[in-house]
Amino acid sequence: MYMKIFIFFISIFFFFALSHSLPLSTTSRWIVDAPSGHRVKLMCVNWPGHLHAMVAEGLHKKPLKHIAAFVASNGFNCVRLTWATYMFTRDNYTNITVSESLDSWGLKEAMAGMAENNPELLKMRLNEAQRAVVDELGKHEIMVVLDNHVSLPKWCCDENDGNGFFGDEYFDPSEWSQGLSMVAKEYKGIPTVVAMSMRNELRGPRQNEDDWYKYIEMGAEAIHKENPDVLVIISGLSFDTNLSFLKQKPLGLNLGSKLVYEAHWYSFGDPLEKWMHQTNQYCANVTQWFIDKSGFLVTGPNPVPLFLSEFGFDERGANERDNRYFNCLLGLLAERDLDWALWTLQGSYMLREGQVGMEEVYGVLDANWDQLRDSKIQEKLGLIQQIAQDPSSNNNPTNYVMYHPQSGQCAQVGKDDIYTSDCRNPSQWSHDGDGSPIKLKGTSWCLTISGNGLPVILSNDCSSHRSIWELVSSSKLHVGAKDEQGTYLCLEWSRSSNSSAILTKKCLCLDDNVKDVPSCDDDPQIQWFKLIPTNKN
Ligand SMILES: *[C@@H]1O[C@H](CO)[C@@H](O)[C@H](O)[C@H]1NC(C)=O
Ligand SMILES: *[C@@H]1O[C@H](CO)[C@@H](O)[C@H](O)[C@H]1NC(C)=O
Ligand SMILES: *[C@@H]1O[C@H](CO)[C@@H](O)[C@H](O)[C@H]1NC(C)=O
Ligand SMILES: *[C@@H]1O[C@H](CO)[C@@H](O)[C@H](O)[C@H]1NC(C)=O
Ligand SMILES: *[C@@H]1O[C@H](CO)[C@@H](O)[C@H](O)[C@H]1NC(C)=O
Repeated sequence: MYMKIFIFFISIFFFFALSHSLPLSTTSRWIVDAPSGHRVKLMCVNWPGHLHAMVAEGLHKKPLKHIAAFVASNGFNCVRLTWATYMFTRDNYTNITVSESLDSWGLKEAMAGMAENNPELLKMRLNEAQRAVVDELGKHEIMVVLDNHVSLPKWCCDENDGNGFFGDEYFDPSEWSQGLSMVAKEYKGIPTVVAMSMRNELRGPRQNEDDWYKYIEMGAEAIHKENPDVLVIISGLSFDTNLSFLKQKPLGLNLGSKLVYEAHWYSFGDPLEKWMHQTNQYCANVTQWFIDKSGFLVTGPNPVPLFLSEFGFDERGANERDNRYFNCLLGLLAERDLDWALWTLQGSYMLREGQVGMEEVYGVLDANWDQLRDSKIQEKLGLIQQIAQDPSSNNNPTNYVMYHPQSGQCAQVGKDDIYTSDCRNPSQWSHDGDGSPIKLKGTSWCLTISGNGLPVILSNDCSSHRSIWELVSSSKLHVGAKDEQGTYLCLEWSRSSNSSAILTKKCLCLDDNVKDVPSCDDDPQIQWFKLIPTNKN
């Protein structure tokens, strides 16, 4: 009998063990599992449950089990699951079943789809259905970040939608705080719920720093009091793009080691002309903008974790502005090895902005939730779906992998050439920074140019100008060395039918920052390479 109990506990332990143990906490800028101090990187996809019906999207399209398995099999270890305050704080929103909720919005198709795909959920109350989603994700070893997205359930976010800032029409601070407490309590003891984020995209005419400090501290304490296990994730002003005021005035909170910040980064509103014709300089500018407003948090004397909790692109692939923004962002995301949540899982909505069945072109899934919208998405996310840096690693010094964001591939030294392949086990390099050689780790071989249009090679002539590499564009994404004439040649990705090579070629669009007018018609992304620090074996 004792043996049986023992086995029972062992299996419970393994069930929740995932690949690490929960709950999580923080050390410096890293999220770690508490006992071992090993890094746990949040690699999430967003999954909304905050719209009108307050039911996680897609449950009318596919069985819950199927969706959870899809998330896990695509390399995500976590879901940022969104919820609306009223679902917990207002009786007539709380105390209804999934079927009553769909019915009240006249969502007949969704109702029929639920009856087919997830009949057992229809009779559940909304919070029970949410719990069923969390539990099913847990069975697939998927962690959950519960994100308070709005108060009144609906599509987010407008400057003036009444959900934007403390004191707005639907956004009563004490009701919000009460909602946070209720959710914190509801999920206490559910280890896979590893974090709660306090409010999505604070914004609008009422936003101001004083109220931000006051209410963020109130909300964070409310969560921490009810559920000291979860990480508390804090968002900034201006649609979650601005935490720069923390440079002057840190938050006066002590949550032990449970505090994480979040930020969003999209290409909305970016001028297409600049992305198309000043690609390098515009990438440099938006990257610096992100660092100034939020990215700075992971550096300096008191670094804290930063969760890039929304970013994404039109996965149909035809939006060139989005494509360039995304490759630019991947460079920084990989280099800083941030925690992240891609926007987004859902291929469509039950009801969004008055439209039944609206498609989501940023969705990883297609409109029918059948398959990947972008067949290359896994390759694109391949490197960021790995841990590059682990604070518990004893590997010193840091080495680098050479990453090509556009293809999602990394440089690999083969028997007699250097090519690119998926980033699962790329070659590692040692490098002392700008203006120094790039040496194959553990060897005396250096990356060397052999001529314009020719493959980059390895040589032992490490002090030659042909082996001295510099980041030659404002985006810092061009890696170049000088040829015999003193002209820079840049690494360039070259794909042929069954292989891919790295050539050195005339650098593209280096001077797109010289003039203020959009100037370069070439697409420099094939030359974007970035050295990504890693302390993995
Ligand atoms: C709850 O009641 C309010 C006020 O009567 C109403 O506006 C709202 O639509 C109701 N919500 C639901 C989900 O029934
Ligand atoms: C919720 O509904 C049940 C059954 O209809 C009822 O007994 C209960 O009092 C309701 N709770 C609230 C808070 O309205
Ligand atoms: C960011 O916040 C700082 C400090 O409150 C403010 O000065 C600045 O204008 C804000 N920038 C944006 C783009 O919101
Ligand atoms: C980048 O920022 C600099 C400095 O603010 C500005 O002069 C330049 O025009 C910007 N370039 C682009 C392409 O936006
Ligand atoms: C690649 O394709 C070429 C020509 O189609 C062929 O000669 C070569 O053997 C192929 N290489 C590999 C590694 O499959």
